[in-house]
Amino acid sequence: MADSSREKPLGARIDIRRVRGTDMPGIVALDQQVTGQAKPDYWQDIFQRYATRRVDQRFFMVAEAPGSGALLGFIVGEVRGWEFGSEPCGWIFAFSVDPAAREQGIGEQLFQAISAAFRKTGVKTMRTMVPRQNQLHMAFFRSEGMVAGPYIQLEKDLVD
Ligand SMILES: CC(C)(COP(=O)(O)OP(=O)(O)OC[C@H]1O[C@@H](n2cnc3c(N)ncnc32)[C@H](O)[C@@H]1OP(=O)(O)O)[C@@H](O)C(=O)NCCC(=O)NCCS
Repeated sequence: MADSSREKPLGARIDIRRVRGTDMPGIVALDQQVTGQAKPDYWQDIFQRYATRRVDQRFFMVAEAPGSGALLGFIVGEVRGWEFGSEPCGWIFAFSVDPAAREQGIGEQLFQAISAAFRKTGVKTMRTMVPRQNQLHMAFFRSEGMVAGPYIQLEKDLVD
């Protein structure tokens, strides 16, 4: 008889939990693979700030394969309030799924997990920023129901 669990997308069988210190080498490696830059000091700082303090409003979550415990992806965000005149809302600022495990629903499960965590804090809105030309990010966040918000980002070149 066929094993029906094999037919499910991987995302249907993953575990999502808060990050642990032992995950950090895998996080640094996945981020380097995705962005092309190794940032171990940055990630150690993010771990200290988002996994050890004010964790009722800060969420650093990982997706792992059941059994092997292999790291499949991560998402990081927090509730921030009153900046730019905004009511408190949930912000996602880092998000990656292992390229070998994409398009199987893992990103969606991470997104849903952090959405639920934000909702539990009482906020009614969540936000992120995406590079305008990044069609993958746009496709993903649009598919999760995110639309253009009420703010626009302004910037100025400081290099002479
Ligand atoms: C964006 C990302 C998190 C999506 O993860 P994922 O696990 O592949 O996404 P899912 O399988 O859950 O897809 C959910 C939806 O997103 C959209 N989507 C995902 N990948 C897509 C692709 N390659 N093309 C078009 N739409 C896509 C689809 O609508 C999909 O729903 P569907 O499967 O019903 O069509 C992943 O592609 C990624 O990590 N990209 C790099 C992120 C990055 O650059 N991080 C570093 C800076 S923070």
